[in-house]
Amino acid sequence: MAPRRFVLALAILGLGAGVATMLLWRGGCFDTPTIDPLRDHPENTQLDGRVTDQLGPVPGARIRVKGQSASVDSDAQGRFRLVGTDTTGRITAWKNGYFIGGLDLAASPLEFTLKKLPAEDCTRYSWVDPAPIAQDVHACGKCHDEIYREWSVSAHARSASGRHFRNLYDGTDWNGKAEVGWSLKSQYPRGAGVCASCHAPTAEVAADLNQIDGVAKFGVHCDYCHKISGVGEGPIGRTHGRFNLDLLRPAEGQLFFGPLDDVDRGEDAFSPLYKESKYCASCHEGTVFGVHVYSTYSEWLVSPAKEEGKQCQTCHMKPTGTMTNMAPNKGGIERDPKTLANHRLFAGSQEEMLRQCVKLSARLERDADGVKTMIEVGAENVGHRVPTGFIDRHLILVVEALDSNGKSMPLGDGPSLPGAVGKLLAGKPGKLYAKLLNDEDGHSPAPFWLADPEPVDTRLTEGKPDSSTFRFAKETRRIRVRVIYRRFWREVAEVKQWPDDEIVIVEKILE
Ligand code: HEC
Ligand code: HEC
Ligand code: HEC
Ligand code: HEC
Ligand code: HEC
Repeated sequence: MAPRRFVLALAILGLGAGVATMLLWRGGCFDTPTIDPLRDHPENTQLDGRVTDQLGPVPGARIRVKGQSASVDSDAQGRFRLVGTDTTGRITAWKNGYFIGGLDLAASPLEFTLKKLPAEDCTRYSWVDPAPIAQDVHACGKCHDEIYREWSVSAHARSASGRHFRNLYDGTDWNGKAEVGWSLKSQYPRGAGVCASCHAPTAEVAADLNQIDGVAKFGVHCDYCHKISGVGEGPIGRTHGRFNLDLLRPAEGQLFFGPLDDVDRGEDAFSPLYKESKYCASCHEGTVFGVHVYSTYSEWLVSPAKEEGKQCQTCHMKPTGTMTNMAPNKGGIERDPKTLANHRLFAGSQEEMLRQCVKLSARLERDADGVKTMIEVGAENVGHRVPTGFIDRHLILVVEALDSNGKSMPLGDGPSLPGAVGKLLAGKPGKLYAKLLNDEDGHSPAPFWLADPEPVDTRLTEGKPDSSTFRFAKETRRIRVRVIYRRFWREVAEVKQWPDDEIVIVEKILE
């Protein structure tokens, strides 16, 4: 019999009773109520069909009504039976190695002929510009405007052009003046081709980032990320970015990999990798010139978050809940907003994420000798150490004791801040949480391209709060406690004339 659609009114007569009895018999337990979607929901429709390719039946293909959560797999003969509530819309089928296929729900018979993905990556492919103003019909921002806006303000969009990055790369300062302070290109020129593998993955191999143009300038851009078909065999951290990411670029037409298995425009393919940390790993782990500069992925591997099944995407691409259509008026359908990811890469902002993960508790005790402050700084609900990412990121705990005139009191006993935090704070009561590098002469901070390979790592670890005690004289009236986040070392920022971008994460006053 050719695959057909049955509406329940018919199905219940012929099948309902039989299916129910069979399920009861197979379960061997007559007390468990059996749910039969056809019998219990008379509005349901039974969809029968078959999946083939040019060679014959395709078993193990995943079938669903587009935009809905229920799915079934095709059997050894490529046949499937799906029960749903829709009679209009589309039904889709996907299997690994194929484009996602689609049919109108009203079609009869429901026969899918799946198209295989290209057999090999075409290196002549030219990258699509993400910007909505570009000529290319595929310019992503033309249809995916919300995703484009999110990506545009994310660090991925400026990974090759960001001013801080360029200033450290070529030795310029914020105003474009040459040869000011740290400079990869003059201090370690033979390393200049290494950065592009993660910061500009579609530039020429070993490109000088001052020379690149075209789509490569957009750094980690839409088309690159959505051509990733797999992760290579290279050791993560040693095989950087592009050299450990497999691509599949079509010789003709288009191909986008993504997290959905029901996008049936004939140019899309589902890949479960898009929801896994492994997808991010080759760029977010890196030993560069012998120094373990980027360690986020290896930190995640041993984190409580991984134990709980949380991937990078769970926290960093968490749906905003506001986007219901990823390509409105351009062929997109209304979807559950909880299924559409956020390309900003931070839930809200980094500041909000820092606030929800850094925990400060502080207690004050007075005794005959003076004032004692017990402070605990910890990290919670985070997938790695804090801070993580670029090696220069750091957190500073600053403790200030003030007398009744608001005058600062000297530290009696307890830890104080090292010189690396900069002139303003060095020597003050507090603690530094950082991966601190020395150069050959023992000076710190040092750029990673001139540094001793072994940093002193005092960053926060989830589940292991850092406690310290500070003592001050008894004239102390109030104690002000702050935790500050900085992206770069103060002495570098000053020389480069960078605008201040310090974030005060928490502040407490104890009396
Ligand atoms: C760093 C790599 C990366 C970049 C850059 C990137 N994406 Fe994605 N994109 C992903 C990943 C990973 C997912 C799946 C996330 C998930 O489902 O948790 C995704 C999901 C999507 C989806 C499915 C719908 C959704 O929101 O989940 C669309 C459409 C999409 N991206 C388009 C774009 C466009 C357009 C751009 C550029 C403006 C872009 N992407 C840039 C990695 C990237
Ligand atoms: C092709 C390499 C590449 C891939 C793949 C990639 N990233 Fe990135 N990511 C980068 C680079 C390079 C930067 C730094 C950009 C800059 O500031 O110069 C970055 C920055 C970030 C930031 C922002 C940090 C900040 O300071 O603003 C987050 C968060 C992030 N990535 C998360 C992810 C997640 C999650 C994934 C996987 C879904 C991912 N990235 C995949 C290369 C990549
Ligand atoms: C002409 C409009 C248009 C343009 C231009 C466009 N897309 Fe899409 N894209 C769509 C539509 C429509 C969907 C499916 C929407 C739905 O099913 O809700 C989609 C879906 C996707 C998906 C999801 C695939 C899956 O199976 O998870 C990805 C990823 C994607 N697009 C990436 C891109 C990228 C990258 C670019 C730029 C190189 C781009 N798109 C350009 C219209 C467009
Ligand atoms: C359980 C949630 C969670 C998971 C899982 C998680 N992160 Fe984060 N991530 C955070 C929070 C919270 C912050 C803000 C604190 C901070 O900046 O260190 C953050 C910050 C970051 C930053 C910014 C660092 C900086 O200061 O520039 C990067 C980059 C990053 N994460 C990458 C990743 C990658 C890659 C993965 C997967 C290997 C991952 N994260 C997994 C919660 C998470
Ligand atoms: C293994 C991939 C990888 C390589 C190789 C790499 N980077 Fe990065 N870089 C990243 C990632 C991922 C981030 C984002 C981490 C974060 O935001 O904390 C980043 C961030 C940075 C930042 C901070 C940018 C900002 O605005 O906050 C600088 C500066 C930087 N990298 C310099 C370099 C230089 C110079 C090189 C070449 C010697 C290089 N990187 C090589 C992956 C890489």
